[in-house]
Amino acid sequence: MVSFDRSKPEEALVLVAAAVGGLVVLRAFLCFLGALYSTFLRPAKNLKKYGEWAVVTGATDGIGKAMSFELAKKGLNVLLISRTESKLVDVEKELAAKCPKVKVANLAIDYSNFDKAAQEAVSKALSDKQIGILVNNVGISYPHPKFFNELTDAEMEGLVTLNVTSTVAMTRLALPAMLERRRGAIVNMASAAAVAPTALLSGYSGAKGFVLKLSESLNVELAPKGVHVQCQVPLLVATKLSKVRRASWDKPSPASYARAAVACIGYERTCSPYWSHALQLWVMDTLPFFLVNEVTYGMHLGLRKRALAKASKSS
Ligand SMILES: NC(=O)c1ccc[n+]([C@@H]2O[C@H](COP(=O)([O-])OP(=O)(O)OC[C@H]3O[C@@H](n4cnc5c(N)ncnc54)[C@H](OP(=O)(O)O)[C@@H]3O)[C@@H](O)[C@H]2O)c1
Repeated sequence: MVSFDRSKPEEALVLVAAAVGGLVVLRAFLCFLGALYSTFLRPAKNLKKYGEWAVVTGATDGIGKAMSFELAKKGLNVLLISRTESKLVDVEKELAAKCPKVKVANLAIDYSNFDKAAQEAVSKALSDKQIGILVNNVGISYPHPKFFNELTDAEMEGLVTLNVTSTVAMTRLALPAMLERRRGAIVNMASAAAVAPTALLSGYSGAKGFVLKLSESLNVELAPKGVHVQCQVPLLVATKLSKVRRASWDKPSPASYARAAVACIGYERTCSPYWSHALQLWVMDTLPFFLVNEVTYGMHLGLRKRALAKASKSS
């Protein structure tokens, strides 16, 4: 039993401070151990328990293509949805050759015009399949960082349509059958820009913020009904969208990202599955808010300047 001299209240204060400090350190240590376990040791869920098929939007390139391959490797049949028919046919062939035991189907949809007819086409494609997993991956960002007032109306509309409307509409199309079977997993691809303020990508940050909050709320609502909703918040991955050509420790290849991403399905409500992304987010969360904002702002200002210089040279 710890005792202190009542005539010296400062001793009690020191004890309380030491106890609180100890709890904070213990909590950080346990979080660190938990992160190590979930990143490197935790076994992936048996994804086939959600259903026979996975649907992936934006499946012909980057993260979506890599996730389609990873899901097929886990034994799921995959419905690839994307914009360009010829690329869909190529990816379907490539996937069928790599994973001959699974079924692969494709559907060409342009989410910039996801009208009634397009939604009916998706509905029809889903109707004869037991959809266990929906990956709402399709999305766009800025051509380069810019101030909000520099975005054209079409660019802003595209950010909302491709990132927000596609996610909402696809979820509404796939959900009823999942609820009926009381099984399913929905993975929504947001971005670290959904978590942290991201100057000069405000429209993207806001759109992905919607995806994040929608996912978190839906998860609470749907988990008791057997449907797990997860929001993934990656940082940079080497894809066309990010314009990162070469993968590195902090900017993984789509295949490395997808391995980590698929291993997380069914676990966290919100996660940044790749280890170095999780580390960067932890650093961002730990550093003072103003410092993180200043660094992001400065970096995006530099990228904007370089993009404008490049554009003026080529015009
Ligand atoms: N890469 C990153 O660093 C990063 C970081 C954070 C979050 N994310 C998010 O991750 C997701 C995937 O990004 P990514 O980097 O893999 O992108 P990506 O390499 O540019 O691939 C985008 C995919 O979406 C398809 N697509 C584009 N516009 C479409 C439209 N109008 N209708 C239907 N399909 C369309 C593309 O099809 P086509 O082949 O026909 O063009 C392609 O398959 C996005 O939601 C993005 O915001 C990416």
